[in-house]
Amino acid sequence: MINIAIDGPAGSGKSTVAKLIAKKLNILYLDTGAMYRACGLKATALGISCNDEQGVNSFINGIDLQVKYENGTQHVYLDGEDVSESIRKNEVSKMASDISKWPMVRAKMVQMQRDVASKQHCVLDGRDICMYVLPNAKYKFFMTASAEVRAQRRCNELEQKGQAVDYDAILKEINQRDYNDSHRAHSPLAKAPDAELLDTSYISAEEVANYIIEKVKKGENL
Ligand code: DC
Repeated sequence: MINIAIDGPAGSGKSTVAKLIAKKLNILYLDTGAMYRACGLKATALGISCNDEQGVNSFINGIDLQVKYENGTQHVYLDGEDVSESIRKNEVSKMASDISKWPMVRAKMVQMQRDVASKQHCVLDGRDICMYVLPNAKYKFFMTASAEVRAQRRCNELEQKGQAVDYDAILKEINQRDYNDSHRAHSPLAKAPDAELLDTSYISAEEVANYIIEKVKKGENL
């Protein structure tokens, strides 16, 4: 199977690049962050704090979470309901970052991710894909960009959706999320030694995607 693993912090452009790669190579894109977002949403719906490990452990193994592909787009279903839109809300980012630190949550999500990756050619993006989920992936990348550039991208995204934006608040949130994601005890965000570092601050997603595609084509003789 062709497995392309992309890690990086929030706003580094991973998902835009991964989507382009999936489309151009006609392979699957698995957005692993969306899965943690759905876990956060579920805890909140149950009235459980994402920081309450025991509370989270009480439901995580039985979570009814499904990732489906409809017309080439990933949809996330929670208890049979399509939550693809609601997991994108800004407040859900913090829930996902909080809930993703618990070992039982990670074990459950990683099992689902490995299962998908073992059955089809795919590109996965997340925080722990290169080091933990697919340590044997042939293509590994770590995408990054300055926190300021990432905050600006997030503001543009929210503006496009007609949501109110406050650049300083978003920059603070990004820095906080980077800190949380890279300081947790289990599978913290870090560049794998064998992943190629790509700084996307000043190059377009299209250029990054094309660069990765070329590498894959060469590696696979496509
Ligand atoms: O990529 P994202 O912003 O949708 O991810 C939301 C949160 O989920 C992120 O702050 C940390 C967590 N996450 C993770 O721990 N491991 C992954 N593979 C993907 C996301």
